[in-house]
Amino acid sequence: MYRPTVGDTSWFTHDRFGLFIHWGIYALPARCEWIKQYEEIPDDEYQNYFDHFYPDLYDPTAWAQAARDAGMNYFVITTKHHDGFCLWDTKLTDYKVTNTPWGQDLIRPMVEAFREAGLKVGFYHSLIDWHHPDFVIDNTHSMRNHPDRAKLNEPRDQTRYIEYLHGQARELLTEFGQIDVMFYDFSYPSETPGAGKGRDDWNSEELLRLTRELQPNIIVNDRLDLLDVEGGWDYRTPEQVAVREGVKVDGEPVVWETCQTFSGAWGYHRDEETWKSVDQLVQMLIDTVSKGGNLLLNVGPTARGEFDDRAMDRLAGMGEWMKRHSRSIYGCGPAPAELQAPPDCRLTYNPETNRIYVHIFAWPFKQLHLDGFAGKVAYAQLLNDASELKMRETAVDNRWFDRNVAKTLTLELPVKQPRVTVPVVELFMQ
Ligand code: GLC
Repeated sequence: MYRPTVGDTSWFTHDRFGLFIHWGIYALPARCEWIKQYEEIPDDEYQNYFDHFYPDLYDPTAWAQAARDAGMNYFVITTKHHDGFCLWDTKLTDYKVTNTPWGQDLIRPMVEAFREAGLKVGFYHSLIDWHHPDFVIDNTHSMRNHPDRAKLNEPRDQTRYIEYLHGQARELLTEFGQIDVMFYDFSYPSETPGAGKGRDDWNSEELLRLTRELQPNIIVNDRLDLLDVEGGWDYRTPEQVAVREGVKVDGEPVVWETCQTFSGAWGYHRDEETWKSVDQLVQMLIDTVSKGGNLLLNVGPTARGEFDDRAMDRLAGMGEWMKRHSRSIYGCGPAPAELQAPPDCRLTYNPETNRIYVHIFAWPFKQLHLDGFAGKVAYAQLLNDASELKMRETAVDNRWFDRNVAKTLTLELPVKQPRVTVPVVELFMQ
């Protein structure tokens, strides 16, 4: 059997819901974390954002509280994104937060605050670096169209960049206590020499070995270009897509986490109008867990150091739902295959408690028919208020129709939908 995983993912598949944070000096232009690359901004111009970075409202305790209240159990922070700006006091470059007007490390207080609030700690670290002088300019670089690209590349030495990258990983994995997740981002190998970067450009195997050596309990994502290597990743990371089925490798379900944004960009984007609603986000979380995955939901804090009002509104809305329904999320995964979800519903299952959760996305009239459930349920209730739901076993569509069809379990629902974003029925299985 295919066994890619080395790290222990049991806490991860239990916890199910985490917070991604993309923060850096790209919060100042406020139009996506890729801005330097999209707009091909030269270093001297991008320096403006470094020179004006001053997040005076930064309050990591408030961030951790917002995540906790939303029902999140872990977080992943960008220690460095593709623009190369470092959020901690690294000894290996001057291109770091402690040299901006703010002058203080951002990572240490964040790690402490989130840990204190009971969340596990993850680091996102960019393999790509559009600032480092040794990073060889390729087709993904902010200077890819520079007329002197070849000449600029002459003195660049990717081997020295690899040393820098591994040195920074060593700092991150030794100076902040236990790190639970490492999210490296990302490889993009190409057939054309010099066009992309893959495992050899990061020395991925060594980087992964170092990561596991320094943090034996860590779990690592799948973007080091080691998909075919035994132990080359612990979980898969489908990004900004609607995952149709659980992720499988060679036909076997594997551990996965989908990362998603509120509005499209990962870094703070002031003018984006494509914010998902609380309803959509709650449904996304449920849908993900029903297919066996985790949801890592992203906030891009502002340059003053806040989660803006739109982000707070979404987090609060999810928290409102999670307060009464986290039982259908934590410790849950897909239902056994013989149990079918009714139309517009998603099932999750907690094998420890032997309970099935029916999440109803569109409230039906009076009755919910559960095929494959007859004879298997001992008790049913609405999860939000623990009010009993009467059950009966009949042939589908009840007594006026064909009596020879298989028996189904029918739940009697109130005509009015309970006043929650997504109502959930809790079934105590026999
Ligand atoms: C992508 C993007 C990036 C984002 C990441 C999140 O690889 O390059 O901006 O950080 O995905 O998964």
